[in-house]
Amino acid sequence: MKAVVFESYGQPEVLKIREIEKPDVPDDAVLVRVRASSINVAEWYSMTGLLIGRILSRELFKPKDTRLGADFAGVVEAVGKNITDFKRGDEVFGGRSGAYAEYVSVKNAVALKPANVTMEEAASVPTAGITALQGLRDHGKIQPGQKVLIHGASGGVGSFAIQIAKAFGAEVTAVCSPQNVEHARRLGADHVIDYTKEDFTRNGQQYDLLLNVNGGRSWSEYKRALKPNATFVLIGAPKTPVVGPIGLLIKTRLATLRASQKFVFFIAQFNRADMQVLKELIESGKVKPFVEKAYPMTRIADAMTHLGKGHAQGKIVVTIQSSNTKVP
Ligand SMILES: NC(=O)c1ccc[n+]([C@@H]2O[C@H](COP(=O)([O-])OP(=O)(O)OC[C@H]3O[C@@H](n4cnc5c(N)ncnc54)[C@H](OP(=O)(O)O)[C@@H]3O)[C@@H](O)[C@H]2O)c1
Repeated sequence: MKAVVFESYGQPEVLKIREIEKPDVPDDAVLVRVRASSINVAEWYSMTGLLIGRILSRELFKPKDTRLGADFAGVVEAVGKNITDFKRGDEVFGGRSGAYAEYVSVKNAVALKPANVTMEEAASVPTAGITALQGLRDHGKIQPGQKVLIHGASGGVGSFAIQIAKAFGAEVTAVCSPQNVEHARRLGADHVIDYTKEDFTRNGQQYDLLLNVNGGRSWSEYKRALKPNATFVLIGAPKTPVVGPIGLLIKTRLATLRASQKFVFFIAQFNRADMQVLKELIESGKVKPFVEKAYPMTRIADAMTHLGKGHAQGKIVVTIQSSNTKVP
């Protein structure tokens, strides 16, 4: 099968399409023919080789795992002996490493695709949707009527977070750049702050829950926007090549040791139950995936470059071509 691989760290030009072995189908897994995948910041960091990641994994000069991708939507081609809840031909979506490929073999994080979205839309959901869901529900303990602020609200995670927070009954304020103000409003944000015109840490408003998806402000600034018993959930930070979000994580963790507010950082976990929750939110119309652009797999480098600029609107998707489909 064809798959995207990177044999050295670097900019998107290191991404190549190679012919590699199709995965087996273990007894407790399903083999999915991938129709679409989507791009996440984690893949950007894997490709460029965040220095701290290289040191921790002892892969300083060359990656051991040359495969990329995490999100997929596609069609079940075969099921393992022990699988009873999927059958050949089912349309599914989920998370599996190495998803920029024509096939993935997946055990846990897979669910039936929401019936009302395309393969591209479904492929945009897993990482970003699960992160937004777990950030708000499990770590932010979101409650109806709470005032929630989402900093970095218009990209992959933020676009899901606005809609999921609304689905939980919160009053949502989205912080984004001027070109994304309308996008955040269309997703349902009650208030939208253009960060080039207004500083949300200085406008006198305070929130019960602040989801920091991609902001890099200091704790003393964030604190001004938080009620005394608020929760601050750190999801990510603007990209840096050496330590990535770890710098902001350490600084904020230390600064919040004596704070009255609760500070949480987490790494999202794929699981079937949450894929099912997202499917239901999408089928109920409460959440609608937003794909800014879909690139064919042959243009994976352009797709990665688009994400790397840091101002994606919703998600960037990669359409995976099957071996017998001609690339347009
Ligand atoms: N903890 C986890 O498990 C987990 C999981 C997934 C992702 N993440 C992290 O979450 C972050 C966001 O991921 P994503 O997929 O949403 O990325 P994305 O699609 O690239 O979106 C990032 C958004 O951040 C906004 N932004 C850029 N610079 C900003 C700044 N200086 N201040 C405020 N906002 C800014 C941009 O919106 P504007 O153009 O409107 O500024 C952009 O739309 C990344 O750091 C990623 O590593 C963490």
